[in-house]
Amino acid sequence: MSDEPKFTDEQLEQARLLFAKPWDFRTSVTDMANLPEIGNTEIAFAGRSNVGKSSLINALTGRKGLARTSSTPGRTQMLNFFSADDAPLTIVDMPGYGYAQAPKELVEAWTNLVFAYLRGRPTLRRVFLLIDSRHGIKTIDEEAMSLLDKAAVIYQVVLTKSDKIKPPALTRLIDETLAKLAKRPASYPEVIATSSEKGKGLAELRAEIDQLVKN
Ligand code: GTP
Ligand code: MG
Repeated sequence: MSDEPKFTDEQLEQARLLFAKPWDFRTSVTDMANLPEIGNTEIAFAGRSNVGKSSLINALTGRKGLARTSSTPGRTQMLNFFSADDAPLTIVDMPGYGYAQAPKELVEAWTNLVFAYLRGRPTLRRVFLLIDSRHGIKTIDEEAMSLLDKAAVIYQVVLTKSDKIKPPALTRLIDETLAKLAKRPASYPEVIATSSEKGKGLAELRAEIDQLVKN
């Protein structure tokens, strides 16, 4: 991959402005019947429980308490919708998968809701699939990728908590991740490394999202 920055300063600035809007929580849903009406371009954050989905949404919007964060895995078992007045984008925090104590019925309910949402949401432009930098892609993430491939929704891997590993290990992880993604039909062939805690990769991720809204 080239070292040229992917985005111009102007694009980064436009994206910063989008995320500087007054983002707010709209609604939580546990079934398809209650989805908000189709409208804005939508993007969603998915990933295993505790990977840092809510933290990333808070960091992107600069609003600490926007998406609930917790160190108790599996708290967010709903689709949570966020929007901002006059922003042409809706952000969805998806329920985390793969927490150890999940009973079988809950896993099934997760799969059904998530698959129905992925299949039935024409405005959903991309899913950002979060992977913990310390762990890389695990079997459970491969299962989520298969679901996304089956739903034919484009997904892009975002590495989280990159402050937790050293730069050479991160470079290796990015290469390994890209190699795994190459075999996946609906995957987007780029990876963004982020740290919600240190702010790393956030401007780039905002710009990636802003381009989806504009194109
Ligand atoms: P569920 O809603 O349970 O699926 O979890 P989640 O994916 O929303 O994770 P959440 O944002 O609640 O973060 C889980 C834990 O990881 C929290 O203790 C966060 O403080 C921590 N965390 C999130 N992002 C980062 C990061 O960039 N760096 C570090 N060091 N810790 C992070
Ligand atoms: Mg969460």
